[in-house]
Amino acid sequence: MKYYIQFKRESLGFPELLGSRKTFLRMKREKYGYIYRTHLFGNRTVRVTGADNVKQILLGEHRLVSAQWPASVRAILGTETLSNVHGAQHKTKKKAILRAFSREALELYIPVIQEEVQAAWLALLPHSIEAGLNPTGRLLLWNLALCVQAEQGMDLQSLNIESLEQLKYTGCVIKETLRINPPVPGGFRVALKTFELNGYQIPKGWNVVYSICDTHDVAEIFPDKEDFQPERFLTDPCADSSRFQYIPFGGGSRMCIGKEFAKVLLKVFLVEVVTKCHWTLLNGPPTMKTGPTVYPEDNLPTKFTSYVHN
Ligand code: HEM
Repeated sequence: MKYYIQFKRESLGFPELLGSRKTFLRMKREKYGYIYRTHLFGNRTVRVTGADNVKQILLGEHRLVSAQWPASVRAILGTETLSNVHGAQHKTKKKAILRAFSREALELYIPVIQEEVQAAWLALLPHSIEAGLNPTGRLLLWNLALCVQAEQGMDLQSLNIESLEQLKYTGCVIKETLRINPPVPGGFRVALKTFELNGYQIPKGWNVVYSICDTHDVAEIFPDKEDFQPERFLTDPCADSSRFQYIPFGGGSRMCIGKEFAKVLLKVFLVEVVTKCHWTLLNGPPTMKTGPTVYPEDNLPTKFTSYVHN
């Protein structure tokens, strides 16, 4: 018997704009350069691209700029959430929450994540249903065959931090996926004072968006940038010059707190899906769209045919 998963997504409208965002942003860059004025969420905004410029913004937190998400995001997340607090409160809160993502804590989560993923597959298999994975999960699905080939011969039955760390190629597949289609396309700031950035004046009170997707797109450390080449991450690029050219998790004091957890989760998910499930993408590799985060145009219909139970 064959079972099917549909990754359902409601249309957000303006599909022609969503589909061609990369092209649109490239066109804007060609016309206006790496720093330009625009209008987002009803606010006067400066869009900032490129490692050196983004570095100033990310390291200028509390001095030049302050994290400020659009009102809608702030309302959804709540005023007391880490992303929405500042100064000493942010520092204290972040330090406390970081304990939940320490190496020891992550070690404890691995079997739980593994069980959850297994339970999810088992729940899906007996029925023909519609279900959803998060965008990164969906993105990763179509790159999985690469992992199977590369990590063959490894014992993937009992996962722990050490065994996950040994999955070098899988790690590269995750990194390359986050390079080509960063799930968080950028971060929002507000200028605390009028300051100069690479010759441009940023007025006090204006919003500043640092762009992750544009910055990856213009990064010199990634030749043949359109190609999916996980191998490019097998050798670490020399640290300093490349530091802000690859920023899927942001940087500076607002760097993603869930970064290590996300990487563990994605690796466990990949191991489970590669080693235990048999599946095929019904439409082959998808075309990705953005709105507001990345997702496959066809919702990635996938046929799961069996699951190997431990
Ligand atoms: C692949 C998965 C993920 C990506 C690509 C990602 C990306 C990001 C980025 C780019 C930022 C910085 C935003 C900024 O500069 O303002 C950020 C911040 C944040 N992320 Fe993530 N994230 C991921 C997963 C997670 C997970 C799993 C959690 C929690 C369990 C999480 C919690 C947060 C929080 C709380 C912040 C705000 C940090 C602060 O303001 O100090 N993220 N994330």
